[in-house]
Amino acid sequence: MPGRVEGKIGIVIGAGQTPGDTIGNGRATAILLAREGARIIVADQDIASGKETVEMIIAEGNEASFELIDAVDETSVSILINRVKEKFGSIDILHNNVGASLALGDAVAVDLTEDAFDRSFAVNLKSHWMACKHVIPIMRQQGGGSIVNISSLAVLEGYPYLGYKTMKTAVIAMTQNLAMAHADAGLRVNAILPGLMNTPMAIEARVAAGTPRDQVIASRNARVPLGNRMGTAWDVAYAALFLHSDEAQFISGIWLPVDGAAWASQGKY
Ligand SMILES: NC(=O)c1ccc[n+]([C@@H]2O[C@H](COP(=O)([O-])OP(=O)(O)OC[C@H]3O[C@@H](n4cnc5c(N)ncnc54)[C@H](O)[C@@H]3O)[C@@H](O)[C@H]2O)c1
Repeated sequence: MPGRVEGKIGIVIGAGQTPGDTIGNGRATAILLAREGARIIVADQDIASGKETVEMIIAEGNEASFELIDAVDETSVSILINRVKEKFGSIDILHNNVGASLALGDAVAVDLTEDAFDRSFAVNLKSHWMACKHVIPIMRQQGGGSIVNISSLAVLEGYPYLGYKTMKTAVIAMTQNLAMAHADAGLRVNAILPGLMNTPMAIEARVAAGTPRDQVIASRNARVPLGNRMGTAWDVAYAALFLHSDEAQFISGIWLPVDGAAWASQGKY
């Protein structure tokens, strides 16, 4: 039986992962898209981690290759995208996964440094825009494609740190703008808002900041209404698989929370 994204060429930017015990969103998405028939280009600034994702995909008998990229450098982004187009002939899927908060020095407004603000802007927003900018002409020319930008439930919640909150909110505005502007060419652009996920990126930064691991995990689990446990990277990956597949052919410009009813439960009394 053909996979749900059979034969598609997909670039996942940020498909390596922060080291840790669990799997990251980007890596899980790359693995799942490959399982469902896509040929995946794993793009990351971390060579070892990106190649590890490729090895995991190939070990399952699926197709992937690694490309080094600095997602905040336009030359690097455009070279990668053009190389993929030349090599494979089309780009059907762009998955923008790069993003971080505390690891970039994010803070509340009065403590945030100019450098940390600029880093947050570059990593969380500019990187997504630049990849879209260079992929869209290719997708327009081929008559369609799917872009998913990873935002965050922080957009809808009382998230404390200014950089991440602001940039992830702008990712939604950008997603809607692109969906509107390129619908005429059959191009779909959507966003996913992960909630509290048990991923190394979310857990390790807080452990490194001094909170004991058990405490980080227990307090995050307790804040999730659905089953009192965090989601996993696979929950994000399955949402991405759907949005990138032709099953979602009439869906564009949406932002999809993957959050265990967290948003629906806000202000519960
Ligand atoms: N885990 C959560 O709880 C959670 C919640 C909401 C949103 N998110 C979002 O999910 C995304 C990340 O999830 P993840 O679990 O895959 O994180 P991760 O940290 O495990 O993986 C991110 C990958 O991006 C790469 N990367 C970072 N900067 C880069 C750059 N400039 N160029 C190229 N590669 C770069 C890293 O090397 C890493 O391999 C982010 O957008 C994050 O904001 C996560």
